[in-house]
Amino acid sequence: MRRKLAAGNWKMNGLTDTLGQVKALTDAHPDPQVDLLLCPPATLIAQMAWARGTHALQIGGQNCHAAATGAHTGDIAATMLKDAGASHVIVGHSERRADHGETDADVAAKALAAHAAGLIAIICLGETLAQREAGKALAVVTAQLKGSLPAGATAANTVIAYEPVWAIGTGKVPTLDQIGEVHGTLRGALRDMMREAEGVRLLYGGSVKASNAAEIFSVADVDGALVGGASLKAEDFSPIITALENA
Ligand code: PGA
Repeated sequence: MRRKLAAGNWKMNGLTDTLGQVKALTDAHPDPQVDLLLCPPATLIAQMAWARGTHALQIGGQNCHAAATGAHTGDIAATMLKDAGASHVIVGHSERRADHGETDADVAAKALAAHAAGLIAIICLGETLAQREAGKALAVVTAQLKGSLPAGATAANTVIAYEPVWAIGTGKVPTLDQIGEVHGTLRGALRDMMREAEGVRLLYGGSVKASNAAEIFSVADVDGALVGGASLKAEDFSPIITALENA
């Protein structure tokens, strides 16, 4: 069985005074029945790792460089995230693909670096609105998966997050049928690409909130969520976690 994963992506939000949200979240879920992950800005990883104490909350980065060290001013290596207390790193988020021109090959190289550092890579993919309207969503996500999954990916070191670009931060969510169709397609593509395909967690992301979480989690092959805006406050994230526990 795949252990479900509720992951929060804080994006470029959060100063030290927001770390109180960690205590509120861990107090609300002292013994979570799903994997719980927060990906704060890199500046907060070490403090968040300290703030969680002995709680099972896991911490992730939002990006890493493909190289282990070197002359890359302003970048962060996967080993550094690990050293600061992270166990995961998001790679290939659509905001990175759009803002920094990251290609599938870049994403695969970053995921490879994450694996080499002992991190779980959360590989993000998803179609734009124009691609969906052109009937290309399934072809786009399948191509992104093939291009972004590095050699050596296993069920233990890799999570896939399907995040339609048009659903991120917009309040728009695909229909349950559309989510199920993409997740089923991704599972099928994984079967063609790796032996451990059944064990890979497939997250849905894009405008997940308390009011739609339970129905999204009822869809086959949805093993959790990558949550942006609704992960910033414990009071918003908590009911999503509970919905996943009850799914
Ligand atoms: P959102 O972001 O939940 O705010 O739509 C999701 C994401 O980008 O990971």
